[in-house]
Amino acid sequence: MEIIRDKRILIGVSGSISAYKTADLIRKLRDLGAAVRVIMTEAAQEFITPLTFQALSGKAVHTKLMDPSQELAMGHIALARWADLILIAPASADIIARIVQGRSYDLLTATCLATTTPIAIAPSMNQQMWHAIAVQENIATLIRRGVKIWGPNSGSQACGEWGLGRMVEPKELIYQIAKLFTHPYLTGLSVLITAGPTREYLDPVRFLSNRSSGKMGYALAAAAEAAGAQVTLISGPTNLDAPVGIQKIKIDTVQQMSDQVLSLISKADIFISCAAVSDYQPTHISSQKIKKIDKKITLELEQTTDILKTIGEQPHKPFLVGFAAETEDYKKNARVKFIVKNLDMIVANPVGYHQGFEVDANECTVIWDKGEIDFPLFPKTVLAQKLIQQIARCYYEKHPN
Ligand code: PMT
Repeated sequence: MEIIRDKRILIGVSGSISAYKTADLIRKLRDLGAAVRVIMTEAAQEFITPLTFQALSGKAVHTKLMDPSQELAMGHIALARWADLILIAPASADIIARIVQGRSYDLLTATCLATTTPIAIAPSMNQQMWHAIAVQENIATLIRRGVKIWGPNSGSQACGEWGLGRMVEPKELIYQIAKLFTHPYLTGLSVLITAGPTREYLDPVRFLSNRSSGKMGYALAAAAEAAGAQVTLISGPTNLDAPVGIQKIKIDTVQQMSDQVLSLISKADIFISCAAVSDYQPTHISSQKIKKIDKKITLELEQTTDILKTIGEQPHKPFLVGFAAETEDYKKNARVKFIVKNLDMIVANPVGYHQGFEVDANECTVIWDKGEIDFPLFPKTVLAQKLIQQIARCYYEKHPN
């Protein structure tokens, strides 16, 4: 989420119980290097104190339109000019209506009127209120005016009801903010990504697998989507939620992953094979749980299908990006895979017990026919953005139109 660093985000908080989530949002934005200022409506202060947001944002919270001291320091015009984005989270039905009407009797509505900065709102209200015609018409008006509407989500509500109306989670809002600031340089392209491990079953309860968490592949999927691509993610078993806006297909075995890749590859412009795919599978799968009878048993293994190599042999292949997970001579070994699998690019990453797999950060060397570039250790989310940019550069070099 490097894209968020140094961005100036003005958060408007209106009267809703979801204001507690905004505290977490502000903390996360600050962690990502954003500068945050907060405006609270009177109703918002019934739910949470300005002091909370002051502590989290590191700045005095703005609450009054007619506050001489604030006007000298940062009044509504200055706030409106300062921000790169105004995000109203939570946005109650009332603040939405007042923005639609162009009211300006409080600081938040006046700031919204006095700005040319993008405005986004994260609605939060009872599900019946959300479905009310008045609210829906107001939302339609805001969309027509170019206001971004992020959410609401569906689920259980503080009032005890269930349905649409929950403010989207801070993690998702951050993703939307990052997307807003990202140039959509992959618009119109379809990107297929594999992530996570595969499982090769020995019997109904045991399998051979590896330590891939899916973090690298999921981060690539989110970065490609944020850059405007239509992304499909084929994922082995992980604990991760699919990034927002991405079609996720779950698989277990190499054979299942191979079937899915082969059925979708003709629609892909770019294929990124980040999954840690098993190289071997048991020759025989026991239909019953293997009993503990013999002192020693021998597993016979045979090679699995090499999915990436199979695609590399196709006459009409998309732009192919492989990964090489190597414990030794990682660049040299990656170069061999680059040639043998007929790739357009390979991402070579050194791996070990505490390296590459499972951890949150990764380092790598990207190799393609005209060059190579080293990326030092970065959080996987940041590295993914850099890799997607590099992939796009090389893709457009091969496909200038
Ligand atoms: O998931 P994380 O915990 O975030 O970890 C990320 C990662 C270390 C798994 C990732 O960065 C990575 O290196 N993925 C590739 C792992 C791997 O299988 O590498 P390999 O060198 O064995 O395979 C080379 C390439 O061929 C890979 O693109 C792989 O997806 C592909 N392959 C391998 C075997 C096979 N049967 N079919 C394949 O398509």
